[in-house]
Amino acid sequence: MKTFGRNCGFTIWFTGLPCSGKSTLARLVAPELERRGRAVEVLDGDVVRTHLSKGLGFSKEDRDENIRRIGFVCKLLSKHGVVSIAAAVSPYRAARDEVRAAIEHFVEVYVNASLETCIQRDVKGLYQQARAGKIPNFTGIGDPYEPPLRPELIVETDKESPNASAARVLAKLEELALVEPAETSAYTAEEVEKIRARLVKLGYIEE
Ligand code: ADX
Repeated sequence: MKTFGRNCGFTIWFTGLPCSGKSTLARLVAPELERRGRAVEVLDGDVVRTHLSKGLGFSKEDRDENIRRIGFVCKLLSKHGVVSIAAAVSPYRAARDEVRAAIEHFVEVYVNASLETCIQRDVKGLYQQARAGKIPNFTGIGDPYEPPLRPELIVETDKESPNASAARVLAKLEELALVEPAETSAYTAEEVEKIRARLVKLGYIEE
């Protein structure tokens, strides 16, 4: 039986250049989904490479293997209703499409920032090392990055704030009917308090 709607597991796959903002977005989106009652697991490339993908390097073969492993875990989790969030450079289109084909509800988010912006951010100083020739196969410098052709969403992290990008991800999930819209009250806090006091007075609820 196909599951869909409220408790449907799915995978959000953030792909983009190093320092494009994938992990930041994953960290913003995950707690919001948890707040909405979902079980969430984040698979971050940097973290995964310390255990699940320990020993893998950055050749095309190793990167593809890394993506396959992350995809495999996402698939298992999604199948059981968990929201899996992958944040990995995943530079090769074919590997991402392979994972897409394996996962029933797959939401690819291209985390787009210009190479110049990513180089400026250079959170771990790796672009600097790559440009100095110390990391020959660094994505964006010596190695290619193949942007998705038809991602479910593109966020422009050099033009919008992290919170704005995260809000767009959540809006897309709502649009795809994978999550329910956040509960918004039709009343202000003041109105809610007045209604509550009235209900207490009428004896419908306790103080
Ligand atoms: S992927 O290509 O296999 O998807 P992954 O997201 O797991 O990569 O890991 C990328 C992280 O590894 C980067 O954020 C960076 O910190 C580090 N790294 C080390 N060497 C490289 C490299 N040659 N290219 C890209 N990232 C690298």
